[in-house]
Amino acid sequence: MTAPILVVEDLVKRFPAGRSGAFVNAVNGVDLKIVPGETLGMVGESGSGKSTIGRAILRLTEPTEGRITFDGRDITNIPAHKMRPLRRDMQMVFQDPWSALNPRMRIGDLIAEPMKLHLDLSRSERENKTVDLATRVHLRPEFLRRHSSDLSGGQLQRVCIARAIATNPKLIVLDEPTSSLDLSVRAEILDLLSEIRQQTQAAMLFISHDLGTVKLISDRIVVLYLGSVVETARSQTLFSNPAHPYSQSLLSAHLPADPKAELARHVLEGEVPSPINLPSGCTFHTRCPVAIQKCSTHAPGPQQIDDPEHFANCLRISDGGNRILSTETS
Ligand SMILES: Nc1ncnc2c1ncn2[C@@H]1O[C@H](COP(=O)(O)OP(=O)(O)O)[C@@H](O)[C@H]1O
Ligand code: SF4
Ligand SMILES: [Mg+2]
Repeated sequence: MTAPILVVEDLVKRFPAGRSGAFVNAVNGVDLKIVPGETLGMVGESGSGKSTIGRAILRLTEPTEGRITFDGRDITNIPAHKMRPLRRDMQMVFQDPWSALNPRMRIGDLIAEPMKLHLDLSRSERENKTVDLATRVHLRPEFLRRHSSDLSGGQLQRVCIARAIATNPKLIVLDEPTSSLDLSVRAEILDLLSEIRQQTQAAMLFISHDLGTVKLISDRIVVLYLGSVVETARSQTLFSNPAHPYSQSLLSAHLPADPKAELARHVLEGEVPSPINLPSGCTFHTRCPVAIQKCSTHAPGPQQIDDPEHFANCLRISDGGNRILSTETS
């Protein structure tokens, strides 16, 4: 089996919440693995800890507990100056391309910047590679002389993607890369990312609150709820056989507008609880339509479902009571 490029073990991140001594439990014991060339999708509602996990992997935020191993090396506690050379191998694309790019720099210089920082190239080699990268992200060469204010959101996200692939990284974390773009542009950027995936062997962690978006690009998907992974599966499996009641409710929101499917649509009730006071037991029990008494006292561990890559954390898998959707809807 291929060695993973990234292993996240029992990652915990707590942020201080005001002066009360309380904490925001943003990430609560997350385990992840990504192998080279694989795209792992991460989906969850706003506030479920997706960005914090992405930022912790790149050490843009310090983990409170847990271990992060990148390319065989424990990077959990390495100091910033030792992290710098690793940045060439781990890149990030953010949601908002407007704030990610320096408006005073020309697009060509923005694309060349990571190469300048991390690669030992002559000026002409760098210029050639900049033109090559622009072509790969389908930006016309004349844009290279312009500034970010001359480009649309979609074009700017192409610039960010060119920057992210400029150093041939082994891992790219994409945090909601299409969420700030118009619908028509989103599809173009997803197509571009699929192309990049084919061309490079870079592993990707693709973060989105939207299951439909994650489905289009991911080999495997992890579903997050209140800072915990509740289900992990191959993309196809998650859609055909979602095991966790929360995944099933997310999926039912994506059912086609078919009157028969309408019967099985399941809308979750209640608010997402505050991560300052996490519910006891299974953190989903306050909203779960099939919760039983034990769910408020026992935290479920991962249970294997139908294949060795499919796990869900639910106490009702053993009695079959985890199903909230009828199977013909999946
Ligand atoms: N710097 C911070 N200080 C305090 N709380 C934070 C900070 N960053 C994130 N949080 C909180 O952590 C939780 C997870 O946030 P985030 O990782 O941004 O979720 P997502 O990306 O899934 O929307 C949220 O409750 C958020 O308010
Ligand atoms: S453990 Fe209980 S509350 Fe949690 S998802 Fe399963 S049935 Fe619902
Ligand atoms: Mg986020």
